[in-house]
Amino acid sequence: MHSASLTIDPVLRVSAVDPRLYGSFVEHMGRCVYTGIFEPGHPAADHDGFRGDVAELVRELGAPMLRYPGGNFVSNYEWEDGTGPRDERPVRLDLAWRSIESNQVGVDEFTRWARGVGSEPMMAVNLGTRGVDAARNLVEYCNHPSGTYWSDLRRKNGSADPYDVRLWCLGNEMDGPWQIGHKTAGEYARLAAETAKAMRRVDPSIELVACGSSHHRMPTFGTWEATVLAETYDLVDYVSLHSYYEQRGDDRDSFLAAAVDLDRFIADVIATCDHARSVGRHSKRVNLSVDEWNVWYQQRFAGEENLGWAEAPRLIEDVYSVADAVVVGSLLITLLRHADRVKIGCLAQLVNVIAPIMTEPGGPAWRQSIFHPFALTSRHGRGTVLQVEPASPVHETRWLGEVPVLDAVAVLDDESGAVTLFAVNRDQHEELALDIDLRACPSLTVARRVAVFDDDPDAVNSAAEPGRVTPRPLDGMGVDGGRVSVVLPPLSWNMVRLEAGT
Ligand code: AHR
Repeated sequence: MHSASLTIDPVLRVSAVDPRLYGSFVEHMGRCVYTGIFEPGHPAADHDGFRGDVAELVRELGAPMLRYPGGNFVSNYEWEDGTGPRDERPVRLDLAWRSIESNQVGVDEFTRWARGVGSEPMMAVNLGTRGVDAARNLVEYCNHPSGTYWSDLRRKNGSADPYDVRLWCLGNEMDGPWQIGHKTAGEYARLAAETAKAMRRVDPSIELVACGSSHHRMPTFGTWEATVLAETYDLVDYVSLHSYYEQRGDDRDSFLAAAVDLDRFIADVIATCDHARSVGRHSKRVNLSVDEWNVWYQQRFAGEENLGWAEAPRLIEDVYSVADAVVVGSLLITLLRHADRVKIGCLAQLVNVIAPIMTEPGGPAWRQSIFHPFALTSRHGRGTVLQVEPASPVHETRWLGEVPVLDAVAVLDDESGAVTLFAVNRDQHEELALDIDLRACPSLTVARRVAVFDDDPDAVNSAAEPGRVTPRPLDGMGVDGGRVSVVLPPLSWNMVRLEAGT
């Protein structure tokens, strides 16, 4: 058995957690919208066609913010197509995913649904095939109260009150050659700056996200951010980064260490932002929006160019295992550790498409394995992140070299004084004895312990067996001399809830 230790001290504060860190993402892709959140005719559908069973799971997941409508989709989207009487809306070709888009869900339906499930919308504008004009009109449609062409159109379409959309993405993955309307950094920087200027003239209170890099290994990484921020620094609040991970071959140790790569990616983006700040003599800081992250088995996807035209096809419906859930849990730990600069996170996506929630048309909805670490972290990881100073053994991985076996972070609930520790044991075979030093908070004891682990790390949930992978309660341990010791099972994600004893 390995052993590791950490310290919980409420004085060692990193930052408050922005609840938007627990966002997710709804793209018009595959079956995320159609037969995912929206399926008129389903026995659980509401009057607007949205599935009540899915809405219930979305509430339980706890995603206070939802990015919409893409993704690659947004770069060839005409948002006006999704407004007005449904039977008059045009059917279009979506070039991003070679899909037939019926436009039965658009900005009005999505925004109302998102608010209904307790989430604020984060809207992306099309900077691929469109630009300043369409973007500023959409801000006017969503946020201007009344008395103008676009705001009155919204009112005519059923929403007297403005949607008050705070967060806006200036395009999506514009650095990627796969993107419709892909641009060089210079081309994008100019367009993003002018679009930001016009959108802010319509509503000066909005927050804007500039496109950063689509992944850490993009050949333009670093120079892209530098060019974009040189042009937009004063106009934007966040720069984005996207990161997906998968197991390659039999190299599970590297996959279980994926969060180390995310950690380095985040550190590198912070460096590019702060370099732009120094060079431009700016005082404000630009923060980070990790607005697409997850496990995604991209090797299994044949590529959009090989798809046939179809409406709501089954695209990238990855089925997640225990090992995937452990990786998702550790990616969340990394986001939390960087809570001082990472203010927005979006688990991509929400339903069916690389998602925590799955559905069958006309059938059930269920939780994938990754649902569990996300829901528990979102529920208990609110408050202030604490630095826990872990001392951990290391092991060698093929991809990332030497990595710590223990990955951990703690979050203090400022109101109750409870502390929740999230911890991953990356070793596939050995238990990890974790010694927690609680001397700085003597009233705390272990109130609850749960973990995601299994004798079969490839076990998955399915429609037939939706509860196969679920968090398992573990025995709480008593505090002895200000220390508590817990044993983390091999290949496991763990939550230890510490509350004031009675
Ligand atoms: O989430 C799936 C796709 O991944 C998104 O459309 C795109 O932004 C990213 O490449």
